Formats: sequence, structure tokens, C-alpha cells
Amino acid sequence: MIVTTADLFKVAYGRFAVGAYNINNLEQTRGLFQGNIQSQAPFIIQISKGARKYAGVKLLEGLIRAAQDEFPEAVFAVHIDHGDEPTCYDAIDSGFYSSVMIDASHEPFEKNIEITRRVVERAHAKGLSVEAELGQLGGVEEDIAVDESNARLTDPKQAVEFVERTGCDSLAVAIGTSHGAYKFVGKQGIRLDRLAEIQAVLPGFPLVMHGSSSVPQEEVLRINDAGGKLDPSAKGVDENTFVKAVALGVTKVNIDTDGRLVWTRVHREFFRDKPEVFDFRKPGEIYVKEYADFIAHKNQKLGSAGQLALVRQELGL
Ligand code: G3H
Ligand code: 13P
Ligand code: ZN
Repeated sequence: MIVTTADLFKVAYGRFAVGAYNINNLEQTRGLFQGNIQSQAPFIIQISKGARKYAGVKLLEGLIRAAQDEFPEAVFAVHIDHGDEPTCYDAIDSGFYSSVMIDASHEPFEKNIEITRRVVERAHAKGLSVEAELGQLGGVEEDIAVDESNARLTDPKQAVEFVERTGCDSLAVAIGTSHGAYKFVGKQGIRLDRLAEIQAVLPGFPLVMHGSSSVPQEEVLRINDAGGKLDPSAKGVDENTFVKAVALGVTKVNIDTDGRLVWTRVHREFFRDKPEVFDFRKPGEIYVKEYADFIAHKNQKLGSAGQLALVRQELGL
């Protein structure tokens, strides 16, 4: 059943983080639903602009509708990931989505507020909630001066003003993570101290962690053993950080890259070991199962595994 993102956040805040997973195709969608049912977790399906272009908006939405029929037990929200204004308005007007993310974080502060405010007005009028972003997501490089790296992180004072003036419902914060497989160099890592400062001035307000893949070393090595050429120094977020982040107001954790690594590993190993096979359904079946197990594992780390009964009870489903 599709629910609102706001409802999921009400149940989750301070207890667990809802996993937000991107989908692009049938196998990912099936694995995602299977994994969440397997682990009895509520979840958020994320759709990026790239995914809408790749799979087609109608086909993606059709996949979700069909999955909803096939997995009637599932409780989830449907969300636009890193939307621009036209994508957000299209999603809002379609009536299909639970929430949108407007990402104007690359704009100066005032312009970010102006754009976000416009999207919030349109979204709220139709009952959708809005995630916005403040600060610059990006790897904190070792050779960068402390002042410069701090300047990229979300500023707590600005965060309060931003939330007040935009009316957004959740905030993606820059706390040292970045998208993709290469997040941290050397000893750099996630800045939970900055997260704590943000929560202190925005108590009870849902915070979102982007760039939260853990990029398991074993996965990278297996991909390279099967012919891949990923930089072996690739490094992500320690999965044990999620519990600490939940206590500091993180209610939604975005994970995409790790799922791409699962896909790459399964397919590279399959075709390396079975070079005579050309039926794509064979590796596809393996991938769906492996992706479902991957989702179930992530949900354990996020604390969302086993929370489906509580969500049903608190939302009166
Ligand atoms: O943050 C971006 C997500 O990983 C989606 O990536 O824009 O390549 O679909 P994408
Ligand atoms: P990763 O690249 O770490 O998976 O982050 C995904 C994300 O933030 C999607 O919005
Ligand atoms: Zn992101």
C-alpha cells in the first residue's frame, strides 16, 4: 500500500531510518519488494530524473502499481529523488507520488529558498510532502583545509532559517557523504558532530542522509576479480553509523550505489563462469534474489527490519 512519506516519518523518527532505494527496472523493483517483505520493513521507492528517462515514466509507475498488487503486504512511499522544478511539478500533478525532493542545493542560499518555497506551495496544495537540500554533498578530501570542508557542510543556523522560510518537511543535510563509490579519502568520514548540531536546533525535524552506500570492499574485489576495474580504494559509509544517525534525527537513508554493485557483481561473475549462456533471465533471477537479501540486510542495519507491524498499527492500516 502506498502511504505518505510524512506518515512513515512520524512512526520512524527517533526509532529507525526508512531505507530509500532507487529503482530503474523490473528486476530491481521485484528484488526491492521481496527484500522488504522478507525483512518486514516499510520503505521508500525513489525515482530519479535519470530513471524516468531510462525506463519511461509510465512504465516505472506501472511497475510499482503491479508490484503493489503482487505484494499486498508492502507499506511504502513513492518519492522523486533529486528533482528539479519541472520534474517535481510533473510528479505533483500526476497524483501518483507521496513526496518530492527539490534539489536546489547548488544555488545560492536565497535562490534555494525561493525555488524550494515554490515547490512546497504546489506540493502541499496536493497533499505531498517535500524534501529539500541545504549544503554541498561531496567527498571531504584529505588535502582540503578544515575551513573549506566545513563550509560545504550544512550550517545549523542556516538550516533553521531555511526550514522556517521554505516550509519544507524534511531536510537532506551535507555531513561529509557524497554520491557514488568513492566517498572518503584516508581518514575522512561522516561528520556526526555536525549532524548533532543540526538536530539540536531542529529537534523532531526529519533529516535525510544521501550518499549512504557502504561500498563493501568484498563487493569491489569480487567485481574486479570478474573483470571489473573499480578503484580498490573505493570506500563508503560504515553501516554501523546508521543507528547513531537515527538517534540524531535521521529518518531517511538513501542507498543506490550499493545496489548497482550487487547488479555488477552478479552479472560479471555469471558471464565469467557461464560464457555459453545468453538467456538474460538466468542472471536476472540470481540478481533478484541477491538484491532482496541485500535490501533485507540494509534494513537490519537501518533498524527498519521488523517494523512493519508497528507502522500498520500506528497508521491504522
Ligand atoms: O543520487 C543519485 C541516485 O543515485 C540516482 O542516480 O541519477 O544516476 O539515477 P541517477
Ligand atoms: P549512494 O550513491 O551512496 O548510494 O547515494 C544514493 C543517493 O543519495 C540517492 O539520492
Ligand atoms: Zn542523493
